[in-house]
Amino acid sequence: MAIFVVPDRTAAALLTADIVERFVNSAAPAALGVATGETMEEPLAEVARRCQRGALSLARTEVFLLDEYVGLEPDDPCSFANTVDRLLVGPTDLSPGAVHGPNPHSQDLSAECADYERRVLAAGIGLQLLGIGTNGHIAFNEPGSSFASSTRVVQLNEQTRNDNARSFPGATQPPTAAITQGIGTILLARQILLVACGRPKARALASALEGPLTQSTPASALRLHPDVTVVLDPPAAALLVNDRRQPCRTAREEGEDFYQ
Ligand code: GLP
Repeated sequence: MAIFVVPDRTAAALLTADIVERFVNSAAPAALGVATGETMEEPLAEVARRCQRGALSLARTEVFLLDEYVGLEPDDPCSFANTVDRLLVGPTDLSPGAVHGPNPHSQDLSAECADYERRVLAAGIGLQLLGIGTNGHIAFNEPGSSFASSTRVVQLNEQTRNDNARSFPGATQPPTAAITQGIGTILLARQILLVACGRPKARALASALEGPLTQSTPASALRLHPDVTVVLDPPAAALLVNDRRQPCRTAREEGEDFYQ
C-alpha cells in the first residue's frame, strides 16, 4: 500500500487524474471502476478537462459504477448513473453505452445484483476508484459487511444517510437502500485507488489503515489487497501515526517510477 499525502484537495484531484490517465493510456485493456460522492467530483472534473484539452481520450474505456441508490426516479440527478453522465459522459468522449451500473428499477433486484456481479467480474476492473464514508464504508458496504461480500441490496445506516444528505437538494433525504458491489467484488480489482479529503474522514482513515482488520471498518479490508494507492490531504491524514506516508506533489512531477 502506498499512502500519499498531498498539499490539498486540488493536488489530490490532480494526482487522482494522473493515475486515471496513466491507467487509461496503458496497454492492458481493462475496465475503470468509478466511485461517486463529493470527493470524486474534482478528480473526475479534472479527467474531463484533460479530455477536453485533447490530452486524454476515454473513447475506448468501459466504466463500471460501484453502487447505486434504490428508490430514486430514473431521471433523478442524484442517482450515481446520472452523476457519472454529468461528470464524464457529457464533457468527454466516453460513450454512454460504455457506462455500466446495476439497474435499481429492476423487478427482481437480487437477480439484478447477481447479473451485475457477473458483468463486473467478466469485464475485470483494472483500476477501481474509491472514496470512504465517515463510518469506514467503501461503496455502500456498511460496517458489518463481510470481506467476502458480493453485489447485493443493502440498507444504508443513519450516519451514511446524514452524510450524503448534502448531495440532495433542500430537505430531501437520501434513499434508505442501495445496490453495492461487495467488498469481495472490490478486492478483485487489479489496482485500487482510495481518495479521501477533509477532517471528517480522519478517524475512518486511521481505523482503516492502522486499526484492526475488522468488518466494523469495511475499508480495513483494503489492506488485504496487493496494489492499493491512498491519496489524502493533510486533514484526512491527521490521525495516522505510522511513518509510512510519502510526501509528493503529482505523479507527473514524480516521474515514471512513481508507481511500483
Ligand atoms: C458514498 C458512496 C461511496 C463514497 C462515500 C464518500 O456513500 N457510496 O462510494 O466513497 O460515500 O462520499 P463523499 O466523497 O461524498 O464523502
